[in-house]
Amino acid sequence: MSCKDLVNTQDFNKNEILDIVNLGLTIKKCIKNGYYPQILKNKTLGMIFQQSSTRTRVSFETAMQQLGGHAQYLAPGQIQLGTHETMEDTGKVLSSLTDILMARVDKHETVVDLAKTSSVPVINGMSDYNHPTQEIGDLTTMIEYLPEGKNIGDCKVVFVGDATQVCASLMMISTKMGMDFIHFGPKGHQLSEEFLQIGRKNCEFSGGSCKVTDSEDALAHADFVYTDVWYGLYNKELSKEERLNIFMPKYQVTEKMMKKAAPHAKFLHCLPATRGEEVIDEVLDAPYSIAFFQAENRLTSIRAILVYLLRHSLPEKTIVSGLKSKLSEMIYKIL
Ligand code: CP
Repeated sequence: MSCKDLVNTQDFNKNEILDIVNLGLTIKKCIKNGYYPQILKNKTLGMIFQQSSTRTRVSFETAMQQLGGHAQYLAPGQIQLGTHETMEDTGKVLSSLTDILMARVDKHETVVDLAKTSSVPVINGMSDYNHPTQEIGDLTTMIEYLPEGKNIGDCKVVFVGDATQVCASLMMISTKMGMDFIHFGPKGHQLSEEFLQIGRKNCEFSGGSCKVTDSEDALAHADFVYTDVWYGLYNKELSKEERLNIFMPKYQVTEKMMKKAAPHAKFLHCLPATRGEEVIDEVLDAPYSIAFFQAENRLTSIRAILVYLLRHSLPEKTIVSGLKSKLSEMIYKIL
């Protein structure tokens, strides 16, 4: 069922997603040992940004450079997308000038349309609906930091706070993996029924569970506690006063809140964090916080996503002669 694009992880099955995670971990190990496999030699990535970014932009650019390719940063407002040039023309033109595209967009339909009109693969670098490259990085991080004796499908993850697109994304990837997912957030800022239906459907196949609640009991036995900003992203930007009225103090991740989770629980945050709002310094900087490893794994997962989506266009001799055997085997397996 493998899709040309990564616009939504719902277009991929569990095994395909785990293939990408394992590919990422293998390339990460190669690079940590000083071996930079030149898998994407002569490939060009076009990076369209309608919004600012630190982690996503730098990860894509670093990934292309490390794997022998090149990335072009198409800054907010500096290409014709969204002006008088149609999406169809933009997709056609960029498909003839690059090998793969990524787009961080204001509206989800923009990246959906770009994927439809481009003959090259298109990666969603975050929209107002979801953040799929973040999802795969977060799954990679949770797999690296599994509690002793547990598989990913045995774990419980609690997302605390606002129903951002990162919250929706975490729900989709965790329920696909068979995890127990709970969104602990205030009424009016909980995941919508539309998202919950996707989660429940995933659980029918995976055996996981998907709930929303405004009760702190959600945290009991959680292996992972995750939060994101309280900005009311995209729908209606909240003022600081509104944010604090809605979420403080109940939904701020504090040491006291972390104590309600399992003793081995890890803390995650997609970053950037608003320290002192959704999380306090003592949690974000605690030994159990894996938020900065999570940021590093944006690069781990993005390297793998690029290789995975370009796998059919890699010359056979690149795979055979340019790669150490374990990596070659993995790429052959997913071809
Ligand atoms: N988490 C994330 O997407 O970070 P950036 O906005 O800095 O890319």
